[in-house]
Amino acid sequence: AAATRYEAENATISQGLVESNHAGYSGTGFVNYDNLTGGYVQFTVNAASAGTAAITLRYANGTTVNRPMTIAVNGTAVSANLAFNGTGAWTTWASTTVSAPVNAGSNTIRATATTANGGPNLDYVDVEVTTGGGGGTP
Ligand code: GCU
Repeated sequence: AAATRYEAENATISQGLVESNHAGYSGTGFVNYDNLTGGYVQFTVNAASAGTAAITLRYANGTTVNRPMTIAVNGTAVSANLAFNGTGAWTTWASTTVSAPVNAGSNTIRATATTANGGPNLDYVDVEVTTGGGGGTP
């Protein structure tokens, strides 16, 4: 299936603000995480069927210091302290992808900052679900 885009500015935000002062974002803005540990953006994502989701997070980090976040799906961490390294400028956006199992129907994807610098600026997640049963070579 094609990826579905979920804009961060439409997600549930804890300890962050929607802003639009750095160009290059998709939609109407991005989330600027507060500079603290524990802020998060949580997306509600629908999957037509259970499978493996490729979760692509688009972000900018105008510092030279990694802004790691833990990615959790349905409350379970699937990638701890995933790196969101410096992108060179707040207007330079990059993407990183993680894979995780998802259920049929509604799922939550939460990206939580794990250092005192907070998360990067987060633009969106793209989610593409691949189901099993492709009949490939065992
Ligand atoms: C700057 C920048 C913000 C960014 C922040 C940060 O203030 O303009 O977009 O979120 O730094 O360091 O988190």
